[in-house]
Order: sequence, then structure tokens, then C-alpha cells
Amino acid sequence: MNSELLKGLNEHLKLEFRAAHEYLAMSVWLSVNDLPGFSTWMKQQSAGELTHAQRIMDHLVDRDEQPVLPAIPAPPKTWKSLEALCQHVLKNEREVTASINELCAAADKTKDRAAAVMLQWFVTEQIEEEAAARAVLGRIRLAGSTGVGVLMVDQELASGSVPGAPAEPPAGGSA
Ligand code: FEO
Repeated sequence: MNSELLKGLNEHLKLEFRAAHEYLAMSVWLSVNDLPGFSTWMKQQSAGELTHAQRIMDHLVDRDEQPVLPAIPAPPKTWKSLEALCQHVLKNEREVTASINELCAAADKTKDRAAAVMLQWFVTEQIEEEAAARAVLGRIRLAGSTGVGVLMVDQELASGSVPGAPAEPPAGGSA
């Protein structure tokens, strides 16, 4: 594998592990703030991010390359609001999408068809990831600061009725 593409794939791992770590911390904060639907959703998102990192590591091992696990900074313990938390999720997802797009360009440039095919899964996945994050953020903005509105969104997430927010982790770790 081209050395720059290998470097880029290893660097991308940090974004997936960082998201997994932050989403798990969000799940804890949401749980202690009595929002079990939100908490479950973020826990599922965290688990999904680990499967994304694993997918890349498996590809590298299959290609006889060495995955290098990154150091992950400690995530925040609190968020100033539910809207701020949701905005952070969307920001994370946009960063992941940008990184995937750069990796696709690198795979194309080096004519690495195997990497391009592997990355295509992420291109599709990121459409869902961003759509779900935008949908939940939109719901929270509609709910405003009323407790009743937030509880309704929490119940929606608990039942899996928000687009891209399944009640059960899907097979294969789409999150
Ligand atoms: Fe693996 Fe949510 O990006």
C-alpha cells in the first residue's frame, strides 16, 4: 500500500476512536441527566464507531499492513446543553466525512482499488451518520428548552422513530 494512504488510514482511526470515546461520555452524561432514550442512542453510536475503526484495521491487516492505535484525549464530562451536545456530534460526523473523502481521493490517486472499495462503504455510511445527527439536532431545536419537548424527543429516540436512530444496534455496526 502507498505509504501516504497507509498514514492517512491510520490517522483516520483517531477520528473514529475519538468519536466512540466522546459518544460514550455523552451517553453517561445523558443518563445521569435522566434522558435514557438519548443515552441509549449515544451508546449505540459509540459502539458503531468502534466497528468503523475495526473495519479499517481489518483492511490493513488483510493487506499485510500495520494498524497503529492512536492516543485518545479524555472526552468532556459535561455539555452546556443538549443542543450543544448534538452540534458536537454533527461536527464530529462532518470531520469524519471530510477525512473519508480525502482518503478516497488518495486511494484514487494511487490506483488502490481495494482501498477504494473498502472506503466506499464509509461514503454511504457517512450520509446516514450526518443525516441522523442533523435530524436529532433539528428535533432538539424544535423542542426548544421546554422539559416536555425534550422528553418527547427522548421517547422518540428510545423507540427508534428518529431517522438514522435505530432502537437496536444494527448488524454490522451501522452507527
Ligand atoms: Fe464513524 Fe460516525 O463516523
